[in-house]
Amino acid sequence: MKFFLDTANLNEIEKYSHIIDGVTTNPSLLAKEMKSSSQNDLLKKICDTVKGPVSLEVISQNCDEMIKEALELSSIADNVVVKVPMTPDGLKATKKLSEMCVKTNVTLIFSSNQALLAAKAGATYVSIFVGRLDDIGYSGINIVKETAKILENYNFDSEIITASIRNPMHVLDAALSGSHVATVPPNVLTLMFNHNLTDAGLQKFMDDWRSVKNNSNNDL
Ligand code: E4P
Repeated sequence: MKFFLDTANLNEIEKYSHIIDGVTTNPSLLAKEMKSSSQNDLLKKICDTVKGPVSLEVISQNCDEMIKEALELSSIADNVVVKVPMTPDGLKATKKLSEMCVKTNVTLIFSSNQALLAAKAGATYVSIFVGRLDDIGYSGINIVKETAKILENYNFDSEIITASIRNPMHVLDAALSGSHVATVPPNVLTLMFNHNLTDAGLQKFMDDWRSVKNNSNNDL
């Protein structure tokens, strides 16, 4: 499974660049980072820092405007994937963009039928928001499992991005469910590295090593 980092924060992207395969942003994430630099500067820097795909979202709601915006975003760098909302106009734009060989990420997907429609429109990625579904009492991961089965049944090329991840269990469940990608917020990626037994084990190895070193120095 590929890991994308779900952030527009350049420091976090640089910190995890050795482990991630791409980045996803959205207007809320970008708004948090735009105090320090202009939008175009920031987008360019993110695309230059990341080797893999970088999802940048359109703001327009109507098909023709989305396409215009998508082409502007695509001109920023070769690794741009245009994020389009899961709406009738969004899927019309997705279809046209896929015919123009522009990669798309259909976002705000909350049901397997929405994912199926996005795949039929030619989406490169379908982003299923598991955390927001869990928040309202549904199982987000069930939608990922169903969508994985549907895409496999009909040999769709679209890849599932498990999005709106809130904790390391979501990442594990995404991997077990056949999601192609998990887009992980930096705080969750940090938690995935940690285990008390790793820290305790490392401490013990170092203590044992130092005690032998100290004893052998005393023997001399
Ligand atoms: C996905 O591409 C979105 O940026 C993101 O996962 C949304 O997550 P949220 O529900 O934490 O805002």
